This record gives sequence, C-alpha cells and structure tokens, in this order.
Amino acid sequence: MPDAEAPAGPVLDLLLETPLVKDRSGASLQRQLHQRIRGAILDGRFPSGCRLPGSRALATALGISRNSVTAVYDLLGAEGYITLSRQGTRVSALERPASRPRAARQAASPPVARRAARIRDSTLNAADNLPLRPGVPALARFPLSAWKHCLDRAVRQAGPSGLWYGDPLGEPALRAAIMRHLAVARGVRCEPEQIVITEGAQEALTLCVRLVTNPGDTAWIEDPGYRGAKTAMLGGDLDVIPMRVDDSGLSVPERAWTTQTPRLVYTSPSHQYPTGAVLTAARRLDLIDRAQRHGAWIIEDDYDSEYRHAGELVGAMQGLVPDAPVLYGGTFSKTLFPSLRLGFLVLPDALAAKAAPWLRETLRGGHRYEQLALAQFIESGQFSRHLGRMRRLYKRRQDALRAALTQHLDVPHVVAGGDSGMHLTVRLPDDCLDTRIAEAARAFEMAPMPLSRFALRPLPEDNGLVLGYGNTSESLFVPLVQRLAKLIAADRQEGKG
Ligand SMILES: Cc1ncc(COP(=O)(O)O)c(C=O)c1O
Repeated sequence: MPDAEAPAGPVLDLLLETPLVKDRSGASLQRQLHQRIRGAILDGRFPSGCRLPGSRALATALGISRNSVTAVYDLLGAEGYITLSRQGTRVSALERPASRPRAARQAASPPVARRAARIRDSTLNAADNLPLRPGVPALARFPLSAWKHCLDRAVRQAGPSGLWYGDPLGEPALRAAIMRHLAVARGVRCEPEQIVITEGAQEALTLCVRLVTNPGDTAWIEDPGYRGAKTAMLGGDLDVIPMRVDDSGLSVPERAWTTQTPRLVYTSPSHQYPTGAVLTAARRLDLIDRAQRHGAWIIEDDYDSEYRHAGELVGAMQGLVPDAPVLYGGTFSKTLFPSLRLGFLVLPDALAAKAAPWLRETLRGGHRYEQLALAQFIESGQFSRHLGRMRRLYKRRQDALRAALTQHLDVPHVVAGGDSGMHLTVRLPDDCLDTRIAEAARAFEMAPMPLSRFALRPLPEDNGLVLGYGNTSESLFVPLVQRLAKLIAADRQEGKG
C-alpha cells in the first residue's frame, strides 16, 4: 500500500491495474476514473497526504485526454478528497471510519438485529393466502361494488383536497362513525377525541408501546398469543414475559404482580388468539383493578369479536369500569379486508389529552379517501349489514369444518374455541409435531398454523393446528380435513418408526 510520502509510482500502478474501458453501463471514462480514485481514497489505499500523479502523466498512462484528468481532479478537489496546489496533488486529511474487528461490529450491530433474533420465523409469508389460513375474512364475499361506490363518493366530495395530508389522528368523520359503531356493537365508551386511526391494529400496538412504556419496562403477553403483539413489545425493547392462557383466558399468578410487575399487559379478552378462550368477567375486573393499583396499562386487542356465534355478545373490557387503564385496539382487516390497512386505537380520556400533541407530531393523516369511504360505509348501515352476512356465513363455515373434523379426523383431538371469530384450534396428541404437519400441508396448498408457533414457552398442550375457516368455502372442508388426517397419521407413524 502506498504510504503518504510515496512518489506517484505505486499510486499510478494501482490506477492502471485495470484499463478504463467504455462499458455497457455507459459510465464515461472520466466518471470511471473519478470513481476509481475516490474508492481508493475511501478504502485507505490512497492514505491522507499521498501524492497523486500529475495530470499529464496520468492521462498518457491511461490513454485519455489530459482535460478529462484535470476535470476529475477538479471534481475530487471540489468534493474535498484531494488538495490541488503548485506543489502537487495530494489526498486530503480525511476521517475514515476505522475498520473494527468482527466482534466489535457484532456488539454494535443495530438494535433491529437483536430484536429480529428474538422472533421466531413465521411458517407463512404474509402474502400467502391459502385455504385454512387463520385470520382471513371471506374476501370473495366482500361487497366490492358497494365499497367502490363509497370510494367514488369520497373522491367526489373531498375533491383534490383529499390528496393533501389529513388530520394526523384520522378523519373526524371516521372517528365519529367508529365511536357510534363501537358503542352499539362492543359497549365501548369513548368520544371521537379519544380515537386514533392507525395503519391496522399492528400500528395501534406499536403506538401503545411508544405511548406508555420506556425501554426495559416489563410487558406481559398471552402465551400462546398473537405474534404481532410480541413483535411490537420487542420493538420497544421491553422485557417480554409470557403469561399462560387457560380455558378462561389470560391467567395471571397472583405473585407475578409483585415479582414481575408489568407496565403493559396485552390481552385479547373477547376471543383469545389463538385459543379462542373468553376472559371471564371476574378475571377482567381483577385485571383492571390490579393494573390500576400497580400503575400498569392494558392493551385490549378486539380484533374479530364482532363475529359472535354462541350465546350473548361479549362486551369489551374498555367499557366495563369508568377510567379503566385500557387502550382498546381494533382493526378492519377482519371485518372488511386486510389490504385496507385501517385500524384504530381508543385511548383512555386523560391519556388521549396528554398524547395528542405527540401523536400530532408523529403521525401523518393519510388514506384520506379510504377513511372517508369507510365513514360512509359505516354510517349508511352497510357495515353492520356486511357484518351480519359474514357472521352467518362464518357460522355455516365453522359448522362445516366441525362436521368434517368429527367425521374425518380420526386421531384423538380436542377442538377449542369457535364461540366467535373465524378459526378453530385443534389440539393434537404429542406423538406428532404440529410444525411438521403444517409444513407438509403447504405442499397441498393449505395453510393451517401450528399452535406451538404462537407459544413463547410451548407446553405439550400447545401441539395443534389453528384452522381458519373465514376464507375457505364449505365444500372444501371434507377433502382438506381428509388430507390433514393423512398427514397427521403419517407423522405419527414416522415418530414411531
Ligand atoms: C389477534 C390479532 N390482532 C391484531 C391483528 C392485526 O391486524 P392488522 O394489523 O391487519 O390490523 C391480527 C391479524 O392477524 C390478529 O390476529
């Protein structure tokens, strides 16, 4: 490597290592020379103070015009890489980032690498939409033309002004419509000022973390539970503690409140994801009471409870007790369609007032036509009618899936959930492995999810399959379950062999 005082000879050799040629990328010889010298300066081959050849000598050696070399030197001089003077052309004194040993680089690796390492890969691509995939609504039954009508109307009424940013907290018309819908359908008590429109429930979760926690705070999540909740907590560098779920929902051992006091508790009380359990009234009241006493916040994820199939409607926790420390999140991904990417967060009154200035600085009001169309869709009654139609459809689909399981799944199994929503959870014996079965099922174009993938600390009872019926037509359940039964039998056989 040339040292700072070396004559231009070795530098020239380096510059001539490969000829400059007009290449397909169309970069001119001048540009190539500029890149070559700049690259050698940046990677330290031409250190600070190193003398560069004179323009005439370099031009002759490279077989290009002297004007080209002068132009390159002028540019490098203007960029500060070299200093031109009558004494010659030298590399400027530059602070180059030192090359650090690998271990040091790893220790300083960006936080995202650390967070990603704590997330287990999903077995499914977000874009794959196959039969039995949980959480997908009946997309073919969505009233596209009615929706288009609302969109057209929104574009017509808002005109070009709808192209500009909107209210960062969301279109007022939509927030008012959501408030009215939630009051009737979910028993949520709020004013539009408490509602923030988000990019789906996932953004609502991320906002909750940013609003009420500091890195290092403790967060409880359901185990097994929604993977996106864990991702949001890890994004805030929280200390994530899994809490088991039983048939009555989130089950918190008493001592955890003192030994692992949380700042944030995530729960899906009206239809636990993925087990389908409903958090009992006693546990809801206890959770709110203890959260209040320990200064904790509760995220209530109410993602698909509009589809209640059995018994009375289970109301939200949010409206249960005045001033409950509940941040209530919802999404239109299940009630309408996922690519809409619209959800919402209902903040407790006092928190909403405190958070508004920060939220207004942090968020940008986008998707304005979609928001206005959605407000119209809700206010015109089309949303409730759509929900009613889908509820009946999902009930039929669930019944068909249950019948197929009873008839064709000939291994011992337990079906859980189904009082609400769009999926059933099937627990399997421990002589087969749900992850292997789910993977094998992909080859047959179906996407059940392995139950164990939702667990942070999987127990034997977390061996099973989460079967979505929302987007799978009734006629398919028998052949799909027959195929699953074969895959399970083969897996058990292999385990024995
Ligand atoms: C339990 C639960 N919560 C929240 C979401 C997030 O929905 P989105 O971000 O699409 O609104 C999902 C999506 O599958 C979910 O299953």
